Amino acid sequence: MEQTEKKKVVFSGIQTSGAITLGNYLGALKNWVEMQDDFFCFFSLADLHAITVRQDPQKFRQNTLEAYALFLACGIDPQKSIFFIQSHVSAHAELAWILNCYTQFGELSRMTQFKDKSAKYSDNINAGLFTYPSLMAADILLYQTEAVPVGADQKQHLELARNIADRFNHIYGNTFKVPEPYIPKVGAKIMSLQEPEKKMSKSDENVNGCVFILDPPETIMKKFKRAVTDSEAEVRFAEGKDGINNLMSIYSVVTGKTNEQIEADFAGKGYGDFKTAVGESVVELLSPVQHRYKELIADKAYLEKCYSEAAETARKFSQRTLDKVMKKVGFVLK
Ligand code: TRP
Repeated sequence: MEQTEKKKVVFSGIQTSGAITLGNYLGALKNWVEMQDDFFCFFSLADLHAITVRQDPQKFRQNTLEAYALFLACGIDPQKSIFFIQSHVSAHAELAWILNCYTQFGELSRMTQFKDKSAKYSDNINAGLFTYPSLMAADILLYQTEAVPVGADQKQHLELARNIADRFNHIYGNTFKVPEPYIPKVGAKIMSLQEPEKKMSKSDENVNGCVFILDPPETIMKKFKRAVTDSEAEVRFAEGKDGINNLMSIYSVVTGKTNEQIEADFAGKGYGDFKTAVGESVVELLSPVQHRYKELIADKAYLEKCYSEAAETARKFSQRTLDKVMKKVGFVLK
């Protein structure tokens, strides 16, 4: 761990409610895996964030464990990265409380995710949903993070984390590193296979719109074969061809081929052939992941060893920042 400390510190989190999708994998997870050699990475399953919407206790616990195993299966390497479960490191909740007191009601009210979620879960607009971004700021700032890989939907939260850090530093002197957004080399936003103008999402009403990492091969093929395209019958990346563009993006991230190569390979061929090829490439990508996942989820002792060790390391790093903050704010030292 010693020499890795000189690498830039990266923090990222992901919420653990429900199954992991191909969109999560190609959009976020694959980048995490690729960042592990170049950065000192803290990756966290944000289970404290997940309870801002009601969770069934049994399912919630199971989902978190499954997500942990699945991330390892996808290539998050506990030897390279600190991959932990957020609720195991109490400093997150503690710093979140403190940062709440340096975050304005008006700022939180302007968060578009809060507005969207309070419309969606109108029977449970709890205070946690509102202060979600201060917890996210705590996640990031605890590790003196320099870079945060985030998708477009989390940019506003990261911007707020930067403002909170600046504000705190201004009042108390330099305490937090102010984190920068990290734009991955290959960023892929994967859209629904049924409504390609919308992001692929596990809450998609049409089950065929969303591919899950653990879908059996037949299901994956079926979903790709039913993917919505257009009436042109030409594999070509162009405006107005959302369905084909999405399939091309998926095929491109999976195979490493450029759009030009894909267009050349499928010139004169129909959409049927192309959909089959994309489906097969995804099946091939996911089959070793699924195999590894089965082994991991059966080995509870190994999983526990990984997340316990990671939490211990995360505690060590985060406590330094929390102690510094508490001292600056003026709490009586223990
Ligand atoms: N809010 C993020 C999401 O829904 C997950 C997250 C929690 C996160 N803490 C974070 C992302 C810290 C980046 C940094 O995707």
